[in-house]
Amino acid sequence: MADIPLQRWDAAGYARNARFVAEHGLAVLDLLAPRAGECVLDVGCGDGALSREIERLGAAVVGVDSSPELVAVAKTAGLDARLIDAHEMAFSVEFDAVFTNAALHWMRDPTRVLDAVARALRPGGRFVGEFGGHGNVAAIRTALAAVLTERGFAVASPWYFPTVEEFAKLLQSHGFAIDAIALVPRPTALPTGLRGWLDTFAHPFVARLDAAQRAEVLAAVTDLLSPILCDSEDNWTADYVRLRFSATLT
Ligand code: BEZ
Repeated sequence: MADIPLQRWDAAGYARNARFVAEHGLAVLDLLAPRAGECVLDVGCGDGALSREIERLGAAVVGVDSSPELVAVAKTAGLDARLIDAHEMAFSVEFDAVFTNAALHWMRDPTRVLDAVARALRPGGRFVGEFGGHGNVAAIRTALAAVLTERGFAVASPWYFPTVEEFAKLLQSHGFAIDAIALVPRPTALPTGLRGWLDTFAHPFVARLDAAQRAEVLAAVTDLLSPILCDSEDNWTADYVRLRFSATLT
């Protein structure tokens, strides 16, 4: 995966095109059920929207993210947000729970991330989260691959979308007992359309193209998907499939 361009985050674009990510994450917070006095690590905290909710419920939160732009926004909101790549986390037996929403699918080496998560938890600590699972955004990925291939550009997906079996095995090999795990299809309305979504999330696919090529490719992907993901009133819905889990460190 070393030659796949890194995702680039832009805080204003994220706020405009991806606010729904935190809104949907509220359901995952219910699964975490943070308690007053607990210490929670939020892996991939982004701009801190869900870290703030965890704090509001009475827990102390440390958020980590690899995006300087998003960490700056989280800090401005008064959160203890730290610029740390999840692969490099060096916390040791410090947290009652680790939470993660819509972040693990960006991890290039999930084994290393789970090593760090398991190290960060106290015995009996919870690891609860949600991210893209097997089949996630399949239509969008297929259209990106088709359009790029047709034009002779390389296709390399930056995303990790495991099956339940694959991720369960990874959790168990890190000493977790699984309390719940499931793939949940969740068609997701895109408030700024597919183009807003692509501009925010598809950077690694088009990073090596020049501006004109990028605009042409993204317009072609949008045209190709319009009959599938867009209704007659121009409302776009992405074919999200979430992998939701709750596990306890034994
Ligand atoms: C997701 O949340 O499933 C997702 C977001 C951006 C790119 C790919 C997947």
